[in-house]
Amino acid sequence: MTRDFNAIMEDSQRVLDIIAKDKLEGKEMEDYVAETTENFAEYFNPGFLEYRKSASTNFTAVEWRDNGDVFEDLHGNEYIDCLGGYGIYNVGHKHPKVVEAVTNQLKRQALHSQELLDPLRGNLAKLLAKVTPGDLKYSFFCNSGTEAVECALKVAMLATGKHTIIATTGAFHGKSLGSLSCTSKFVFRKPFLPLLQGVKHVPYNDLDCMEKMIQSCQFTGEDAAAIIVEPIQGEGGVLVPDDDYLPGLRKLCDKYDVLLIADEVQTGMGRTGKFWCCDHWDVTPDLLCTAKAFGGAVMPAGACVGTEKVWKAMMPNPFLHTTTFGGNPLACAAAIATINVLLEDKLVERAATVGEDFIKRLDGVAKKYPQHAVEARGKGFLIAMEFVDGEKGYMVAKSLFSQGVIVAGTLINAKTIRVEPPTTISQEHMDAVVAAFDKALASLDVAEAAATNA
Ligand SMILES: Cc1ncc(COP(=O)(O)O)c(C=O)c1O
Repeated sequence: MTRDFNAIMEDSQRVLDIIAKDKLEGKEMEDYVAETTENFAEYFNPGFLEYRKSASTNFTAVEWRDNGDVFEDLHGNEYIDCLGGYGIYNVGHKHPKVVEAVTNQLKRQALHSQELLDPLRGNLAKLLAKVTPGDLKYSFFCNSGTEAVECALKVAMLATGKHTIIATTGAFHGKSLGSLSCTSKFVFRKPFLPLLQGVKHVPYNDLDCMEKMIQSCQFTGEDAAAIIVEPIQGEGGVLVPDDDYLPGLRKLCDKYDVLLIADEVQTGMGRTGKFWCCDHWDVTPDLLCTAKAFGGAVMPAGACVGTEKVWKAMMPNPFLHTTTFGGNPLACAAAIATINVLLEDKLVERAATVGEDFIKRLDGVAKKYPQHAVEARGKGFLIAMEFVDGEKGYMVAKSLFSQGVIVAGTLINAKTIRVEPPTTISQEHMDAVVAAFDKALASLDVAEAAATNA
């Protein structure tokens, strides 16, 4: 097939004209809705239409704008955001200070020369050294969570000269080959096995198992370089470990000379009511990964922060681990503004107090319907509601969507639904979400009664 470059140019111009508009109306809007579904089916991946249907069953819900704590579709319908891009909207949607920082930087310079020293990279690294716990000091910047984890794994291997990594069952650390090795869900891993050699998994929240695995690695000569752990397992179903778990891991790491990697990609940046989730237990890891909310939901950004002791291994040749766009000026501007906003707007404290209250209210709803729901749990605004089975969770997610509330599944499973709103979510919207859950659970009773009578 010959390529028609003129047609491609015209088509791209048509899309640019759409982007430039504030609103689409009438036929133009309907055509764009239909075109979006078709483009997904024909050019992106039809599988995603099937997957998204599980929550929406409505392909006319094509997103157009966002603000505060809501998404708006092309038809002007609003959706309260309780999915939060899986945890990216910690300072809300398009926080003006983050947008302003990025816009100001963009007006002067978008990306970096890679040769002159880019000052924001240094500013952000210094701020991170100050805002992370203990003696965490040096940073590597990247664009995503999986990249932050890749960096942590490589630094751990370099710093220790060992290659075994111990992860936990239920863990999610990303989907690039190294991080996927530490992720635990078989669906994601099996097609790509054997993955990285020397990665072991032990049950989460089990210190005895962890110690036995470290000992067994020593015994076999496959000494562990690091333990990688989420301080609260997010994708795994918002599992909050016992209070002695993180401190216990720290002690084991010190005892056996193993590094502790805290994957705070989802739990960090105020999400759980402390700046970092490790802060709940006063634990300082040797390496800390952040991403998702790090770019203030305006720029993709991630980082791996390490102590001077481990980072020394990276100093002789910093090119051992690099990525072109990591730490670019726009991402750094966004991250600097995000740290500022979290502190200035007291959003970490808000997550702690308002988030905890939200959990209690959702748990109250869950407990009203023990035939359908088990509980709501979490910390701060990292919340999950667990149902007695996946089908009920799926029905609830569908009902919530039809009531204008978006939530997230966990590990491509609806048995546990994540509720991860922006930490800025309004009281009015939280009331609406609690009422929507109540209605969704009550409607399961009605549906089941109808099925029994049929
Ligand atoms: C704890 C954790 N680590 C790593 C990742 C991977 O992040 P990304 O999707 O940005 O690669 C995620 C994503 O959900 C995560 O929750």
